[in-house]
Amino acid sequence: MHLHKFEKIWLIFGIAMLAVFLGIVGVQAFTQGQTPAGGLKKIDPEKVDVTAPFDNPGVHQLNDDTYEVVIKAMAYGYEPSEIEVPAGKEIIFKVTSKDVIHSFTIPNTKVNMMIVPGQINEKSYTFKEPGTYLILCNEYCGTGHHFMHTEIEVVE
Ligand code: CUA
Repeated sequence: MHLHKFEKIWLIFGIAMLAVFLGIVGVQAFTQGQTPAGGLKKIDPEKVDVTAPFDNPGVHQLNDDTYEVVIKAMAYGYEPSEIEVPAGKEIIFKVTSKDVIHSFTIPNTKVNMMIVPGQINEKSYTFKEPGTYLILCNEYCGTGHHFMHTEIEVVE
């Protein structure tokens, strides 16, 4: 088969562009830690209380600058109900639900994530100012939804 010169050029161009796009997608996936929606961490919602890290909820210091806060949500509250973290440090919130979909929302911050049974959701945040911050459930989860909230103490 004889390819016309321009067809050859376009064919090579097309293959080159495909390689470039695949390369960009691949590099982004690795460098930015992007995972598809199905790639989130899974957990058995029936066994939350005995599955790490939710068998030990609360605040854990990971290193000088990073803290992990493990929280279980259920109708209609959060466990633990008392949370104290330092200002100016990276706080990694890890949440899951023991029953239905809730949310973990701290108004006036960028922290606003759904809490889905069977899934572990994470959000990192650094509080600049000490104070008492409200944590709210933003997803309708039943008759007690409007009362589902707690507080987080951010200290110097
Ligand atoms: Cu939990 Cu609304």
